[in-house]
Amino acid sequence: MEETKVISLLKEYHQEHIIQALSHMQEEKREGLLNQLKDIDLEQMKKLYENKNVDYNTDGKITPISYVDKQRLSKEQLEKYVAIGEQKIKSGKYAFATMAGGQGTRLGCHGPKGKFMLDILPEPKSLFEILANSLKRANQKYDVSIPWYIMTSRENNQDTIEFFEENQYFGYNKKDIMFFTQNELPLISEQGKLLLGEDFLIKEAADGNGGIFESMLRSGVLADMNKRDIQWIFIGSVDNAILQMVDPLLLGLTISQNHEIASKTVTKANPHERVGVFCKKNGLPKVIEYTELSEEMAEQTDENGELLYGESHIMCNLFSRKALEKISKEKLAYHSAFKKANYLDENFNLVVSDKPNAYKFEAFIFDSFEFFDDITILRSKREEEFAPIKNKEGADSPETAKKLYNDFWKLNK
Ligand code: UD1
Repeated sequence: MEETKVISLLKEYHQEHIIQALSHMQEEKREGLLNQLKDIDLEQMKKLYENKNVDYNTDGKITPISYVDKQRLSKEQLEKYVAIGEQKIKSGKYAFATMAGGQGTRLGCHGPKGKFMLDILPEPKSLFEILANSLKRANQKYDVSIPWYIMTSRENNQDTIEFFEENQYFGYNKKDIMFFTQNELPLISEQGKLLLGEDFLIKEAADGNGGIFESMLRSGVLADMNKRDIQWIFIGSVDNAILQMVDPLLLGLTISQNHEIASKTVTKANPHERVGVFCKKNGLPKVIEYTELSEEMAEQTDENGELLYGESHIMCNLFSRKALEKISKEKLAYHSAFKKANYLDENFNLVVSDKPNAYKFEAFIFDSFEFFDDITILRSKREEEFAPIKNKEGADSPETAKKLYNDFWKLNK
């Protein structure tokens, strides 16, 4: 795109402050900014800003979702599903993807969250190493080498790769690890303006974990899966210390139910636990994120006193490759969050904000579920599946995750 075109688009979308900034910037910085602006879709940003308060959750009929409770399966059922799943895994048709693009801001850590050292027994390990060890155990059990796709963000990609290099890939087969980066989107001020960052570029942030589908397509991950004839991909978060990413029961059950997508859940610890909850909207599978869940819905119970919307999304999601290919061509909605952002004013002075002042736009991985008629939901036990590390202290902290990890491995040696 020509420079004059960039300038006229900035004018058209009322971003004159950026034109002004460009006019008194050093040549090198100006070039950098112009290059970045060529890739920013101002029409998309205008729409996102206009729709920042749209509620995507309650514009339809919300009903509870049905699930299979692992505890209630008979021995025969368990054996049957596990055998189906194991057969697929052993035939090398199974892959794992980690979403590691997030920043770990709440945890107060700098750099990739996967580098966070958890003080577990017998010795502290990083979250990446814990994941690698888990995968290595599965490789040994099933005599395979499971491809591991790791999504990073522009901000932490280099750091992440260096960390793997320094640690000799934790003994994992290097040829079976592939890093790919997710997209970013500009932040927008309360007045609908782009913000200039301290690096003299438009301030951007990772576009949410729902960005994984488009990024898999763009980066060649989907093509790689195709080449390796992978049929099923488990996508998990980087911050669950007991993530069970190779689960033959989940896979066998999903294949038996003839579904393309699946998710493991645990019952919500309390109505206000900070987890997304499963439901159906107009008959289609859906998760409502904790930040968007109404108090009424969070507290609603059934005739037995159980939470009506108590199936937690714990980021244990399984997709067929066909499902990923379909989703990667669809557009997911962006949810907005109001955040603090420092920026440069028109005289290039740094403005430090002590309260939220900018909208950040994120796609959520689970919004892809609505593209399918149904989903397999497997309710499992919390202590066997979910040890999240989100906060520095208190609930979902390194302290709670460490205890869950140590207890799990005491029982599952
Ligand atoms: C997330 C889920 C929530 C679930 C909870 C369980 C979403 C939107 N929310 O909430 O439903 O109950 O985990 O622990 O999925 N990530 C990226 N790129 C991004 C943003 C996040 O890769 O742009 C990754 C993070 O590195 C992490 C995962 O996604 O692995 C979860 O992200 P986070 O933002 O921490 O989500 P939560 O608010 O904890």
